Amino acid sequence: MSDDRDAARRATRAVHAGERADRVGASATTPIHQTSTYTFRDGDEVRAYQEGRLARDEYGRYGNPTWRAVEGKLAALEEGEAAVLFASGMCAATTLFLAMVPRGGHLVITSECYRRTRQFLEEYLSKLDVAVSVIPPADVAALGAALRADTALVFTESPTNPYLRVIDIAAAAALCRARGVPLVLDSTFATPINQRALSLGADLVIHSATKYLAGHNDVLAGAAVGSEAMIAPLRAAVGVLGGVLDPHAAYLLLRGLKTLELRMTRHNENGQRVASWLETHPAVRRVWYPGLPSHPDHAAAAASMDGFGGVVTFELDTDLAGAERFVDACRIPLIAPSFGGVESLIEVPATMSFWDRDPDERRELGITDSLIRLGLGVEAPEDLLADLDRALAVLAR
Ligand SMILES: Cc1ncc(COP(=O)(O)O)c(C=O)c1O
Repeated sequence: MSDDRDAARRATRAVHAGERADRVGASATTPIHQTSTYTFRDGDEVRAYQEGRLARDEYGRYGNPTWRAVEGKLAALEEGEAAVLFASGMCAATTLFLAMVPRGGHLVITSECYRRTRQFLEEYLSKLDVAVSVIPPADVAALGAALRADTALVFTESPTNPYLRVIDIAAAAALCRARGVPLVLDSTFATPINQRALSLGADLVIHSATKYLAGHNDVLAGAAVGSEAMIAPLRAAVGVLGGVLDPHAAYLLLRGLKTLELRMTRHNENGQRVASWLETHPAVRRVWYPGLPSHPDHAAAAASMDGFGGVVTFELDTDLAGAERFVDACRIPLIAPSFGGVESLIEVPATMSFWDRDPDERRELGITDSLIRLGLGVEAPEDLLADLDRALAVLAR
């Protein structure tokens, strides 16, 4: 937890950090450098660049001034030395696994984890004979037991999807450091406004910037933040693998980040109010939200987070058809996967993100038929509560 002055500093950093380094055209905003390549005046300039006497851009897969503004802002917000952008959150994850895990190596990951990350490990990284130990989320003891002499990294989300499990980052980081294993944290659900994982001891933070960071449901992007030493190999790897962010998308992310602190304040308020209200509703069996004392990781979350975000997961006292009827009756939340944008989004995980799993697998993953994931936007909490109340009434009919 941090104090009000830290929060104020983050609000100011969100607006100004990383911006206007080169003051092109004296513009108030950082321009979109919509270019695929960069020109050299003459052979001397080419030589000066190649010999490392001149820092500048060469080609669009290796660098872009609009990216650098975003990277500077993100590094300042996450309290890291450096950041690197990717074309999507998945591209950040796949690039880091390929860059950091050697052939035949070992890594530790949590069972509750974005399904495409798991899929990458099972279907693609396995081709490099990489062994994966899967541990329960938020379980520091299981993490300690899973570490091996050849463990290349530990990867976990916190909070996780969909049950918003929160790991004790400081304890996990201490264990990993003692064994010389980097701890990588997917902090998408938290954002640097609610949690600074690097300062808590994580070695690398990654984000699906598609969610809260960009914040308007209009762009796909990813990012990694850490020390220069952790970021440099990732920057080199994305230059080879090629999953780079388009300059226009980088500008949308830069613009979104300026209001991150403002938006997170509303997301946090909406999350807390809606979760508390749902917990008292007779049509709701159970609510998962780290800001509620009933959440299994409330103590860890309260100790390390400044807010708990806009995602609320809950189980209705009904079947799959009832869950779909409730979602269809909502007027404000749009039916869609994803979260973190200004528009609230709602889904029945059994028919959306987990549709390709058979019912037994879903049960094993804890995805019941009447589970709902609600990603609250920045609409007024009173309107959201009224809409949910009206929609839940369809279950009483
Ligand atoms: C926690 C988490 N990490 C990573 C991703 C992947 O990000 P993207 O959709 O930007 O590729 C997602 C997407 O939902 C996610 O929820």
